[in-house]
Amino acid sequence: MGPAEPGPEETVMGVLDGKVVLVTGGGNGIGRECALIAAQEGAKVVVNDLGATLSGGDEGSAGPAETVAQEIRAAGGEAVSNSDSVTSMAAVEGMVRQALDEFGGLHAVINPAGILRDGMFHKMSEADWDKVIEVHLRGTFNVCRATIEHFRNQGDGAYVLYTSTSGIIGNIGQANYGAAKMGIAGLSRIIAMEGAAKNVRCNCLAPVAWTRMTQSVPVKDEAQAARRAQMAASIRADQPARFSVALLADAARHVTGQIFGSSGDNIILYSQPRPIQTESNPEGWTIETILSDVLPAMSDKFYSLDRLPLPPTPVAKSTVAAS
Ligand SMILES: NC(=O)c1ccc[n+]([C@@H]2O[C@H](COP(=O)([O-])OP(=O)(O)OC[C@H]3O[C@@H](n4cnc5c(N)ncnc54)[C@H](O)[C@@H]3O)[C@@H](O)[C@H]2O)c1
Repeated sequence: MGPAEPGPEETVMGVLDGKVVLVTGGGNGIGRECALIAAQEGAKVVVNDLGATLSGGDEGSAGPAETVAQEIRAAGGEAVSNSDSVTSMAAVEGMVRQALDEFGGLHAVINPAGILRDGMFHKMSEADWDKVIEVHLRGTFNVCRATIEHFRNQGDGAYVLYTSTSGIIGNIGQANYGAAKMGIAGLSRIIAMEGAAKNVRCNCLAPVAWTRMTQSVPVKDEAQAARRAQMAASIRADQPARFSVALLADAARHVTGQIFGSSGDNIILYSQPRPIQTESNPEGWTIETILSDVLPAMSDKFYSLDRLPLPPTPVAKSTVAAS
């Protein structure tokens, strides 16, 4: 016998009941799913999205954020939209005011707003470097800085920041994006360390999901095309979104300072860099002994430049039987 269905008068409790959540980049892809799932879990949601193109032109459209807010309201939830850019501190402060004015509080931020401007580093323009750093790293600074004092004062706050394997592992053609995403991982950890005494939590998530962002990566060969077809069906935006929402729940209040991954039905905990070998010499190292002793002693632990594949997503028994 399954769990009892709630009667008509009973309300199903969501893990975010009573909370107000700001979701940036909530008009498309993973952010959209974050906004929808947060609302299903009882949160009142400020759905922000500039309505940008993938490469993040300055002009946006109010359409995507408002469409998602309308979808939430149509399903009986509470949401307002905001179509400003996370690149402006004043605009982000406006998002916070909107949460306080419309819903009387703010308890959490999920920050997937993002763009891509890929290219080999030796051909990268200053504009493409600056814009990607501005949206991802400066944008993450803005949303955290504009909310941190409020969270500390109320002794309650949670962030889910968006990093990427392009930063924490590396990816050819994404130097600007990888640098920004690695910067976000560093920022996240320090916000977590500084926030621990005030019940302010910060985690970051490296998602993999089939969205317009992943569709933009050029296919090089048949194997990659086949992987992409599989990805579209099984590596969806709702999976990292559901994990992001779970991280905001009170039941996850002990979880902070971590780097997670979410890819299909795999949820991943990433390592964080720590010293793995130390060579000491009380006399001091010379150039010669560094070259003759230190580097050879460490070389079998050097990391290769390979980008190891993520584990395959598990296939549900029902899917196996049907295929
Ligand atoms: N999809 C993946 O596999 C993948 C992999 C690694 C990391 N990520 C990260 O996950 C996050 C979500 O990616 P996605 O695939 O859903 O992308 P997406 O392009 O589908 O959605 C990103 C949204 O951010 C919005 N946006 C862009 N610039 C903005 C700004 N300045 N202010 C407010 N909103 C802005 C866009 O309008 C868009 O709606 C991004 O941070 C991305 O870097 C995604």
